[in-house]
Amino acid sequence: MEQIDITSTLQVYDNLEELSEDIQDLMKKAVEARDNAYAPYSNFKVGAAILLEDNQIVTGNNQENAAYPSGLCAERVAIFHASAMYPDKKMITIALAARSENKILRIPTPPCGACRQVIAEYEIKQDQPIAIYFMAEKGKVIKVDSIKTLLPLVFDPSYL
Ligand code: THU
Repeated sequence: MEQIDITSTLQVYDNLEELSEDIQDLMKKAVEARDNAYAPYSNFKVGAAILLEDNQIVTGNNQENAAYPSGLCAERVAIFHASAMYPDKKMITIALAARSENKILRIPTPPCGACRQVIAEYEIKQDQPIAIYFMAEKGKVIKVDSIKTLLPLVFDPSYL
C-alpha cells in the first residue's frame, strides 16, 4: 500500500485593501453582480467577475428557480457567459463575492464542487491556470493560483 498526501497552498489576505487595485476593481464588479443575483429561495447571493486576457470583464450571478435544480451558480453563469461571448479569449482571474440576507458572512465562500469542475474544464481548454479570489461579505480574501488547488484529482478529458 502506498499513501499519497496532497497539499494545497492558499494565500489569505486580511482584507480587500491588501490586494492590488486591479483585483479590488475586479472584486467590486463581483460585488455589483452579487447584488443583482436572483436568489429569492436561498437569499444567498453570489457574484462572479472574470478578467479576460484583453482586460474585458465578464460577470455573472446566481439565478434560482422554483424548480430548485434548474437554477445555476454565479461561477457557471459567468464562465458560460464569457465562453459564449468570447470563446477564444483566455480567462486570467475570477473574483467571487457572496452575501447572505440571513447572517453576516465572514468566512470566504469558495466555489461549490460543480463550479470547480467547470472552472477546471476551461483551465484545461485554455492550457493556462485561472487565479481565483474569493470572499464573503466582509473580511478575509483567499487566493488560489489555479482550480487544481481546490480540486485535486480532477476528472479531465484524458480519462475519456
Ligand atoms: N451558489 C453559487 O452561486 N455559487 C457557489 O459556489 C455556491 C452556491 C448559489 C447557488 C444557490 O443559488 C445559492 O448560492 C445557495 O446555494
